[in-house]
Amino acid sequence: MTFDFSGKAALVTGAASGIGEAVARQLAAGGARVLVADANGDGARAVADSIGANARAFTVDIADPAAVAAMVDDAVDAFGALHLAVNNAGIGGASHPTAEYPPEEWQRVIDVNLGGVFHSMRLEIPAILAAGGGAIVNMSSILGSNGWAGSIAYVAAKHALLGMTKTAALEYAAKGLRINAVGPGFIDTPLLSHMDAEAHRGLVALHPAGRLGTSEEVAALTCFLLSEQAAFVNGSYHLIDGGYSAR
Ligand SMILES: NC(=O)c1ccc[n+]([C@@H]2O[C@H](COP(=O)([O-])OP(=O)(O)OC[C@H]3O[C@@H](n4cnc5c(N)ncnc54)[C@H](O)[C@@H]3O)[C@@H](O)[C@H]2O)c1
Repeated sequence: MTFDFSGKAALVTGAASGIGEAVARQLAAGGARVLVADANGDGARAVADSIGANARAFTVDIADPAAVAAMVDDAVDAFGALHLAVNNAGIGGASHPTAEYPPEEWQRVIDVNLGGVFHSMRLEIPAILAAGGGAIVNMSSILGSNGWAGSIAYVAAKHALLGMTKTAALEYAAKGLRINAVGPGFIDTPLLSHMDAEAHRGLVALHPAGRLGTSEEVAALTCFLLSEQAAFVNGSYHLIDGGYSAR
């Protein structure tokens, strides 16, 4: 599925792998110029090289506000503007019951999965408004509306992302900037690579579709939300979960 992004400039965080990589590829296939941003600089360069002339790599830790500022500046300097942003980079964090969750691990997950999206939106918004408007998608999760034993920090961050998305959407709706969130079920990406076969089967069983999702499926929904076809879609949370949340 390809939407028309010709003339648009985009940035995608966490684009060296998984969902972010698929989003960057689909944006570029639709004609956008894309900043492939990731903490894994080699991975970002490999993705950007394989996309070709429309892509550019940038190494960033989204938990670092100064690095995020440099990322947005790089997109605007290289492309002349910024119209579209996908705040997708995230980490799973360690698994422990809440009473045993290490405070330093809580802080690390919150700094990346929540702080990173705040720092990114804070600087993307003025750049997109300066370009005359556009759209942002924040990557939440089904764990933005459900709990998951052992993942207090991840679940808290993904729930909070929805509040940030709604608040920023209200603030900029009249200025031509739409902001939405996507809530994927479990998706076959390197984020799940630590799981053994039994754990993987257990995850599949939670999805009435009888399988996990693919990065390309999540990218297609994300690109729809970024496209002109979604001009009246704003401030909302879009599940893509094979029926997980319908139970
Ligand atoms: N895979 C799933 O089942 C699933 C489900 C729901 C939501 N999500 C969310 O989708 C997003 C992408 O996940 P994925 O499955 O593609 O994971 P992934 O591990 O394949 O990719 C995540 C990318 O983010 C990058 N990254 C991590 N920390 C970063 C930081 N501080 N700064 C910049 N880049 C950083 C990593 O280097 C990696 O390339 C995440 O926000 C994740 O929480 C994933």
